[in-house]
Amino acid sequence: MRAINIAIDGPAAAGKSTIAKRVASELSMIYVDTGAMYRAITYKYLKLNKTEDFSELVNHTTLELVYKKDKGQCVILDNEDVTDFLRENDVTQHVSYVASKEPVRTFAVKKQKELAAEKGIVMDGRDVGTVVLPDADLKVYMIASVEERAERRLKDNNLRGIESNFEDLKKEIADRDHYDMNRDISPLKKADDAITLDTTGKSIEQVTAEILALVKEIAD
Ligand code: C5P
Repeated sequence: MRAINIAIDGPAAAGKSTIAKRVASELSMIYVDTGAMYRAITYKYLKLNKTEDFSELVNHTTLELVYKKDKGQCVILDNEDVTDFLRENDVTQHVSYVASKEPVRTFAVKKQKELAAEKGIVMDGRDVGTVVLPDADLKVYMIASVEERAERRLKDNNLRGIESNFEDLKKEIADRDHYDMNRDISPLKKADDAITLDTTGKSIEQVTAEILALVKEIAD
């Protein structure tokens, strides 16, 4: 198979990272979770008592993605592994705001483009197909009903030991989507050449198989 890049975008909790990880593993490609980068910057923003000087923040930040055998992608912020803190409620509540800031996006997108310079990347996020990898070989826009997304996030949070309830999660997901879709810079939207994949009611195996079939079509 020739080397390709795959972009997976879509609203919050649509199953992007679970599926992207599976696809990457099946195809021996590298998975890049761009949301984790925005979450790491948000973690630092909170540590800095919600500074509004985003240029200063990113100019004094180092951010690396490393791959550990047991944990998969880990995020190293200023030489500290912050991966375990990135799903905390406080980070989730502020990440869309931080990700809407121009210096933050410029900083993260530059890193993402560098990571994808060598082909063989499955990258998920909100603007991968539209901004980060406009020439990606395959673009998928993944959606699911808000109820199912809240249900999945609830299960995921339970596994991670994060306290949450269904109604709050539904609201948080809908609010975050609204913010991400309506920001000025690189809003969440389907790329013209992306394929929409509705994962509502589908298993992880089913969705993974659908994407692998799409890859086969373009890569042969
Ligand atoms: O994918 P995840 O839910 O971890 O993303 C967290 C947030 O980071 C999103 O709600 C969005 O505000 C931001 N994000 C973004 N662009 C990306 C990936 C994530 O703006 N490519």
